[in-house]
Amino acid sequence: MVKVKVLVTGAAGQVGRELVKLAPAGFEVLGCSSSQLDITDAAQIQQYMTDFQPELIINAAAYTAVDRAESEPEKAYAINEQGVTLLAQAAEAAQIPLLHISTDYVFNGSDTHPYRETDPTAPSSVYGLSKLAGEQALAQFCTRYIILRTSWVFGTEGNNFVKTMLRLGAEREQLSVVADQQGCPTSAGSIAAALWALSERYVAQHDLPWGIYHFSNSPATTWYDFASEIFRQAKAQGVLETIPQLSAIGTEDYPTPAKRPAWSVLDCSKFEAFMSEPVLSWQSELSAVIGTLK
Ligand SMILES: NC(=O)c1ccc[n+]([C@@H]2O[C@H](COP(=O)([O-])OP(=O)(O)OC[C@H]3O[C@@H](n4cnc5c(N)ncnc54)[C@H](OP(=O)(O)O)[C@@H]3O)[C@@H](O)[C@H]2O)c1
Repeated sequence: MVKVKVLVTGAAGQVGRELVKLAPAGFEVLGCSSSQLDITDAAQIQQYMTDFQPELIINAAAYTAVDRAESEPEKAYAINEQGVTLLAQAAEAAQIPLLHISTDYVFNGSDTHPYRETDPTAPSSVYGLSKLAGEQALAQFCTRYIILRTSWVFGTEGNNFVKTMLRLGAEREQLSVVADQQGCPTSAGSIAAALWALSERYVAQHDLPWGIYHFSNSPATTWYDFASEIFRQAKAQGVLETIPQLSAIGTEDYPTPAKRPAWSVLDCSKFEAFMSEPVLSWQSELSAVIGTLK
């Protein structure tokens, strides 16, 4: 079987690792970490395009340090805007599609209905602004692109809320968690699976309805309720012996350099309709992640 060649950038990140792990049989994947392929380096990108000749690019590389971005915006924009621009230009020159991941932080969170792809964006952090600039670069420089906006990513790799809670839960008897931000936790594995499902559809049909898709697990929750469920499942699976006492606090009680949206819920109905199936629940994904971490 002739395999479709896919270049995965940011392959050592949470989603990047899952992309490499979950690649379907019909794809030959070259996963590159930041040290192998720096997406801000046009010559390096060109080298991979020439040597590997990918037929599709999936970009999982990003500057994701939301708070640090406030004090180093140049770095955030260099990766999230200029890096994406270079990838988009390379994909366009090779006449191949580019699948990219973006974020709920392109919205300011002042709404109370799940955000649709067509809703106006208004980021309230440098990270969100740099990711939005990347989306705009993609639309400007690339004809065939997918932007998968997602939220509250967790998984077995890298740094994320689940791993932080499990670590703190083992160290402390009491924890305070923000209870007034709403969003949808999403496993890195399910994002990778969504990107591969889109890739398979592209290969089968030689085309896709290009553009922006919202993708998360469901249903919406708060960080506080997410933490409660993490501890409930960790105890049930024997990962923690005792559950710390949780107190619900407000965003104002947990100041951070970057402003977080109070409402981050994405409406995934466009993706669900295209795939003809509902998105997975974050509770079942969490159970699998805790099982693996165990
Ligand atoms: N994490 C979340 O909660 C969340 C929420 C919504 C959307 N997203 C989006 O989801 C995508 C994947 O995020 P993630 O959670 O997997 O992030 P991650 O774990 O931080 O992975 C990002 C990867 O990108 C790499 N990278 C950074 N600069 C690079 C460069 N110049 N060239 C090549 N690679 C570079 C990083 O490598 P180094 O570590 O070596 O720098 C890292 O391995 C991103 O687009 C992110 O914006 C994430």
